[in-house]
Order: sequence, then structure tokens, then C-alpha cells
Amino acid sequence: MQITFSAAALPKSGAIIVPLFDDGKKTEAFTGLDDKTEGALSRAVKESEFKAKKGKVLEIVSPSGIANARIILIGAGAPKTFGPLDAEAVGGAGIMRVLAGRDKTALFALAGFSAAKIDAGELAARIAYGARMRAYRFDKYRTKQERDEKPALTKIAVHTPASSAKTAYGRHDKIGDGVFVTRDLVSEPANVLYPDSFAKRCQKLSALGVKVKVLGVTEMKKLGMGALLGVGQGSARPSKLVAMEWMGGKKGEAPVAFVGKGVTFDTGGISLKPPKGMEDMKWDMGGAGAVTGAIAALAGRKAKANVVGIVGLVENMPDGNAQRPGDVVTSMSGQTIEVLNTDAEGRLVLADALWWAQETYKAKTVVDLATLTGAIIISLAHEFGGMFTKDDALAKKLSAAGEATGDLLWRMPLTKTHDEMIKSDIADMQNISSGPGGGSSTAAAFLARFIKEGVSWAHLDIAGMAWNPKGKPTVPKGGSGYGVRLLDEFVRANHE
Ligand code: BES
Ligand code: MN
Ligand code: ZN
Repeated sequence: MQITFSAAALPKSGAIIVPLFDDGKKTEAFTGLDDKTEGALSRAVKESEFKAKKGKVLEIVSPSGIANARIILIGAGAPKTFGPLDAEAVGGAGIMRVLAGRDKTALFALAGFSAAKIDAGELAARIAYGARMRAYRFDKYRTKQERDEKPALTKIAVHTPASSAKTAYGRHDKIGDGVFVTRDLVSEPANVLYPDSFAKRCQKLSALGVKVKVLGVTEMKKLGMGALLGVGQGSARPSKLVAMEWMGGKKGEAPVAFVGKGVTFDTGGISLKPPKGMEDMKWDMGGAGAVTGAIAALAGRKAKANVVGIVGLVENMPDGNAQRPGDVVTSMSGQTIEVLNTDAEGRLVLADALWWAQETYKAKTVVDLATLTGAIIISLAHEFGGMFTKDDALAKKLSAAGEATGDLLWRMPLTKTHDEMIKSDIADMQNISSGPGGGSSTAAAFLARFIKEGVSWAHLDIAGMAWNPKGKPTVPKGGSGYGVRLLDEFVRANHE
């Protein structure tokens, strides 16, 4: 998608998107087009009682004066509260309409569209960003798509009087690249994306200046990663652990570590999942996908911070060699785990990935992302990622990053009681809770046992967020890219 910014002019043809606030004020773009079309716009607004409420759309096709144009009025809601995320939603809503048609170019006419809370250049940049995010498609496997099913859009033009728009957009564009890295990974089927091919995708980030290290089974055995390796042992595809280092900050300063669950397919293992919906488990690598995309974003925009992304990549399969319920494995930390349910595999992978991250990088701030429990979807639906941490200050920082980017988080409990629920009869702990309920919290309590004293750590359960079942103004249905902007903003606000 080509995205351009230029000084506001009166557009002459094609798909023209005109945002309006609900205060009844008309923008210059609106009145210019209205004059040109002998009042077609104001007539349409009046007849349809269009009030420019947030998200509402009114389309005027082939008005007199510019017969080869399609004018799309987008309701932007109240100007007083209008901020960056609202601008993104306007961009997304506009482009959604354009994608349903045959236009090659979408033009945002922003002359006179301004709000108090956001700089005009940033406003234009955010509209473009939202539009690009919504225009994402994963269609590499469609070989027979009809011409009229396939959007023709290749260019987004933004007409704005703000000369700073292009510069403002630059940063968002790099973050958008990172979001797309994640969406591509999450959308890919598990016969194509498995530990080795995932690791190869990570290696591509070296083009951005990221140092990528890949550990294989032999090395992980040597390190004693019995928990991670136990999950992968039933798969024909060998497990991997990947570290992606972006050292854009002070030399010698310990990096912030982001750790991702990368189960490239989760059948449940011998504790096999039911068939219905199992195909969803191709995106059980959503945490690893988000971490990879975040590193791509940070490296892409040359963030002045030291950050390492670590992903534990395994496939959880039932097999003659698979681990059995009741097996006891020894993690890299030395702690033993009774595996009572092979479907509670994410925490086993993270146990070793988290420990390795702390040992190798001496990271003092660690955030893990994982599609860890179905229970978090019961709690928070597809609206929030679940945040578990004992560190109030870290919770505050992450929540703020969520609010700023729309990758929302909701803090969940993590207490001593949850820790007591994973006591085992024969090992240091068991991988599922002994009692019913609180499944997301007991999973977090399990991870907490692999965090060293003095390390500031948060676990984000993103099972409800990695995949968007319906779509949002800036997210088409499918892989959402959730977490990339969250982590990027967390770094920007606290570590740069
Ligand atoms: N990957 C799943 C969690 C999941 C479920 C993610 C649905 C997205 C959608 C995880 O490995 C799992 O199977 N968790 C079990 C844990 C249970 C066995 C304690 C679950 O949530 O049922
Ligand atoms: Mn599972
Ligand atoms: Zn899983």
C-alpha cells in the first residue's frame, strides 16, 4: 500500500473520504465538494438525517458535478474528546467502505478537520495508520479469487494542510510493519509455520539490525530445559528457542526481556483437545508472534533501548513419543513439575524460556505474552488482555501503554492462594490447579515460580486477543497483531 500526504486540494474523482464531527460544523473539504456538486452533500445529509455520530457512514455515489466520484462521509463523533485512537478508527472505517468497491485510490479530504486534543499532522498520520491497518489482507493462499471479490486499492492519499503529517506518519509506519509481521505469523497455518520455519522468519529481522540466536534441541538439552522439551517431544518437528536482540540503547545496560509462548500448534497432546475449534490452535503462537512483531517495530523505528525478544517454539502433538499425563519433568531452574495435563503446555514452555531469559540477559524487567488459558476469554472476552503481576508500578506502566495504543489490559489477581493450588504430591509443583476455577491465575502463579528474586515481571494472557473473531475498525477479522503496539509504547514511555 502506497501512502502519500499532500496539501489539501479539492479532489476530483474516485473514493473521497470526508470525516465530520457531530457538532454540525462543516469542514472546508465538505463545503468545497458540496459547492462542486450543486449541494449534493448537504442534501444527502439532510435527507438521511446523518448526524456524524461516531462510526456512522453516509455514501454519496456519482453526484452531479463529479460523476466519477464516490463521497464517503464518516462520522467522527464529538470533537472535544477526539484523540489519536479516534483518528485511527476514522481511517479504518473509511477504508473499510472503499475496500468494498473497485477504487484503486482512497483519498482522505481533511481540509478543515481538526480537533483540540490532537495536532493536525498527528491527526492525519493516525488516519493513514488506521486505514493501512484495516486494509491488511492475508490472501496468499487464495488462487481463485474473483476480480470483484478482491479489493483493487493500492494507494491511500491524505489531503491535509499539515506539513508535519508525513514525518509524524514515519514512526507509525514502522510500528505498522511490526503489527503486520505478527498478523502474518498468526494467520499462517501450522503445516507452514512450525518451530523451524518460525525461527527462519525471526532470522529475517537481521535485515533491520536485530541479532538473532537460535537454539536447537541439543543445546536446550544441555541447558536442562526439560519442561520445554517435554512438550515438543511428541512432534516430528524439533523445538527451537529464539532470541532476538535489539540493542539500540546504552552499551552494557541489561535489556528489557519480552518472552513469548510459541506453540505452533496445540492439539493438547495426549490430553487431546476435542475436534471442534481445534484449528484455532494454529494461533497458539500468538505470544511469540507479538514478541517478534514488537522487536521488528522497535528495530524498524530504531528505538533507543536495549530489548530482547525470546520465543519458545514447540508443537504439542500426541504421539508414541509424546509425554504422558503424570510424567515428571525437570526444568532448567532445577524445579520439578508433575505434568498432570499435557494440554497445559504453554506454562511448561514459558518456564524454561523465562528462566533462560533471566540467566542469559540478567534482565530486570520481564514481560511474557501467551495465549495461555481459555479461562481468560471467559473473564475478559476479546476486549482486554489479562495482566498478572505483583509489581504495582509495572502494572501501571503497562496499563498506560494499553490505554495509549488501544491494546487494552485488565489486571487480574495473582495471590498466594493461587500458588497453593499448584502443589504436587510428588514434585515441586503440578502443571494444573488442584481445585476448580481461577485457571488463568493459577497458570500465572505457575509462571511466577520461574521468576527470580528482584526481577520485575508481568504475565499477559492474550488468548482472547491474538485472534479477532469479528474485526474492529482498525483490525480485519483474523490475526490482530495485539501486543506489538503495547510493547512498543511500553518501551517508548519507560525505557527510551
Ligand atoms: N492454548 C490453550 C489456551 C487457549 C484456549 C488459547 C482457547 C486460545 C483459545 C492452552 O494451551 C490450553 O490448552 N489451556 C488449557 C489449560 C487447562 C488444561 C488447565 C485450557 O485453557 O483449557
Ligand atoms: Mn494447551
Ligand atoms: Zn496452548
